[in-house]
Amino acid sequence: MPDDPYRAAIGRSRSELETPALLLDLDIARQNIAVMAGHMERAGKSLRPHTKTHKAPQIARLQVDAGAIGVSTATAWEAIAMIDAGVDDILVANEVVGPSRIRALAEATRDGRVTVAVDSAANLDDLSAAAVAAGSVIGVLVEVDVGMNRGGVRSKEEALDVARHAVSLPGIEWRGAMGYEGHCMLEPDRALRVTKQGKAMTHLFEVVDHLAADGIDCEIVSAGGTGTYDLIAAHPRVTELQAGSYVFMDAFHGSLIPGFDVALTVLATVMGRHGDRVILDAGRKGVGIDLMLPSPVGIEATTAFVDEEHTGIDVPASSPLRYGDTVELMAGYGPTTVNLYGRYHVIEGGVVTDIWPVMARYGSDTAVEKGAGTRV
Ligand SMILES: Cc1ncc(COP(=O)(O)O)c(C=O)c1O
Repeated sequence: MPDDPYRAAIGRSRSELETPALLLDLDIARQNIAVMAGHMERAGKSLRPHTKTHKAPQIARLQVDAGAIGVSTATAWEAIAMIDAGVDDILVANEVVGPSRIRALAEATRDGRVTVAVDSAANLDDLSAAAVAAGSVIGVLVEVDVGMNRGGVRSKEEALDVARHAVSLPGIEWRGAMGYEGHCMLEPDRALRVTKQGKAMTHLFEVVDHLAADGIDCEIVSAGGTGTYDLIAAHPRVTELQAGSYVFMDAFHGSLIPGFDVALTVLATVMGRHGDRVILDAGRKGVGIDLMLPSPVGIEATTAFVDEEHTGIDVPASSPLRYGDTVELMAGYGPTTVNLYGRYHVIEGGVVTDIWPVMARYGSDTAVEKGAGTRV
């Protein structure tokens, strides 16, 4: 991106940027990547980090270089952005629907190994037809609903129907099962989370065993997120982990597990101070608030509110914060924060050293680039 105006920020200190700005502390992100990679390596499990968190091929590359076997994505467009950048073993941990997306994914699969979650015969038929037309082979995992009540087959019988159909189709390669236990991430009590997660995995393996009894083996069984990564590592049968948020950390995930530091922040400017209330220029259009409010990093302050363009924080009377200062906010939820921005300011040693794009935002940027869709 030689003409990217954001690059003018390279060389500036992290507090000297136009705000709100998305900051990626690469030193901390590398440390988080190493911590997770080391944990999974010691457990003898594969790690396939979820790139919906960062949507940045540069970060995916760091994760693969640190030992990840490939990456997970939420959308076909994220997958294509990763393949285009040379990351070539992708799990789309979600159903891919819609003719342009399926066609684009089938074509991109010629350049990489792609596996997609499926939960219906109709979707399998569409994937198969597109793979045959593109001259590629799409791998599939049956998605099992393990308690989220989102995507996924609802019973082992339904899983068997989908699996039998998958093995019968041209252009489709059967690879196994996936059961993302997202409902467990919403359980703040660790003991209850462990119990719920155990139940979810029991159900997943009842399905896996039911398929095996019919002669359909699962080479891959994928599950888990940041809030359950250690449980997946300790599980005797799950083969790979699809955690994503650990690379950045945010208020929500930080409340679930220790051991990872905050690598992603939003830089904001103090617009005014009124007693103990400080008003910042980053609101909901600049920082994701799903599941938890953002919180200031490195200063004594509590978040009072987050409006569209403002965040209010309360500071002690002794705080030196004043008009024109900058504050960094840890996101309430990292993935929806990243999606608000087109660029990361990459920080090393406290200074901007690079600008990285956020790819496939809203799922469809790549579609527009590839001429497959339109966006207003
Ligand atoms: C299917 C799936 N897998 C994995 C994850 C990763 O979770 P986390 O970002 O909490 O690590 C998510 C998160 O929403 C998900 O939807």
